Amino acid sequence: MDTPVALVLGGHGLLGRALMHQLAVSGWTAHSLTREECNLLDPVELRDRIEFIAPNAILNAAAWTDIETAENHPEEALSLNRGLPALLGSLVKGTDIHLIHYSSALVFNGKKDAPYTEEDRPDPLSTYARTKLAGETALQELKLDNCCIIRTSCLFGPGNKDIIKSIIELARSKNEIKVVHDITGSPTYTPDLAKASLNLLEKKASGLFHVVNGGQASWCDLAAETIRLANIPSMVRGISERQWKHEAPRPPYAVLSMGKYAACMGSALRPWPQALRDYVFTNFLAH
Ligand SMILES: NC(=O)c1ccc[n+]([C@@H]2O[C@H](COP(=O)([O-])OP(=O)(O)OC[C@H]3O[C@@H](n4cnc5c(N)ncnc54)[C@H](OP(=O)(O)O)[C@@H]3O)[C@@H](O)[C@H]2O)c1
Repeated sequence: MDTPVALVLGGHGLLGRALMHQLAVSGWTAHSLTREECNLLDPVELRDRIEFIAPNAILNAAAWTDIETAENHPEEALSLNRGLPALLGSLVKGTDIHLIHYSSALVFNGKKDAPYTEEDRPDPLSTYARTKLAGETALQELKLDNCCIIRTSCLFGPGNKDIIKSIIELARSKNEIKVVHDITGSPTYTPDLAKASLNLLEKKASGLFHVVNGGQASWCDLAAETIRLANIPSMVRGISERQWKHEAPRPPYAVLSMGKYAACMGSALRPWPQALRDYVFTNFLAH
C-alpha cells in the first residue's frame, strides 16, 4: 500500500508540531504549509497547493489563537477562524480527502458544573470563541461525511511557548507566583491529542468530538502540580479572575467530556497529571 499523505496547516504551531511528529512516526508522509508558502485564505492558491500535494488527509491547526488580541481584531480573527475551515470544507467536499479541524472548549459559557458533551449548546463569551464557533458552524452546514471537528482545551506540549513553560519560567524567578483559581478546564497534552486525532482519522470518523486528557484543573491546580513536579521552591497564590488584568471574558468552567470519543475508540485519554509528569520529567528536569 502507498504511504498515506497528510497536509498539516499550522504545522509550526503548538499542536501542529505534535501532529507532524505523530504523523511521521505513524508512517504518514506529512507536509505543512507556512504563511510564507501559501496564502491559506486565497481559494485558488490553496486549491492548487492541495492538488499538488494530493493529501489523503488535511489537519487544520492554523487559527487566530491569541484570545486577547482577537477582541480588537474581530474581522481578522473571523476571516481565519471561520474563513479557513469554510474554504477547506468546500475544497474537500465530494473528495476522498479526510479533514480534521480543531475548535475549542471556549465555545461554552461555563455555567454548567459537569463536563460539556457534544450535545451541549455552545454560547461563546469572547470574540475568539465566537469565531471558533463560526468555523464549526460553517463546516457543519456543508454536511460533510469526511470531516471531523475536534474541540479541545488548554494545550501544553513540547516545541513552542505554552502555559507550562510560562509557569516554570515564572516560578524559577519568583518565590511566589499568582495564578487564577476560578477558571477550570481540561489540560491536554499535544502528543496525546495528536495520537487521538490520528485514531479518529484512521477510523475515518466524522462529526464533532471532544478530545482532552482526563480530569479537570483550575489554572492554580495546574501551576501547583507543575512546580511540584519540576521541584521548584516557589509558592502558588490563588487570585480570582477579577484580579487578573485581561479583556476577553473566559468561561469559569470549560471541562469537556470524553464520553463520545471513548465510546467510539474504546478508551479515553489518560488523566492530565500523568501526561504532565511525562512532559515535565522529559523536558524540564536536569538528568
Ligand atoms: N492552545 C490551546 O490551549 C488551544 C485550546 C483549545 C483549542 N485550540 C485550537 O487548537 C488549534 C491549534 O492551536 P495552537 O495552540 O497549536 O495554536 P498556535 O500555536 O498559535 O499555532 C497556530 C498556527 O496557525 C498559524 N497561523 C496563524 N495565522 C495564520 C495565517 N494567517 N496563515 C497561515 N498560518 C497561520 C501559525 O503560524 P505562524 O507560526 O506563522 O504564526 C501557527 O503555526 C487552533 O485551532 C486552536 O484554536 C488551542
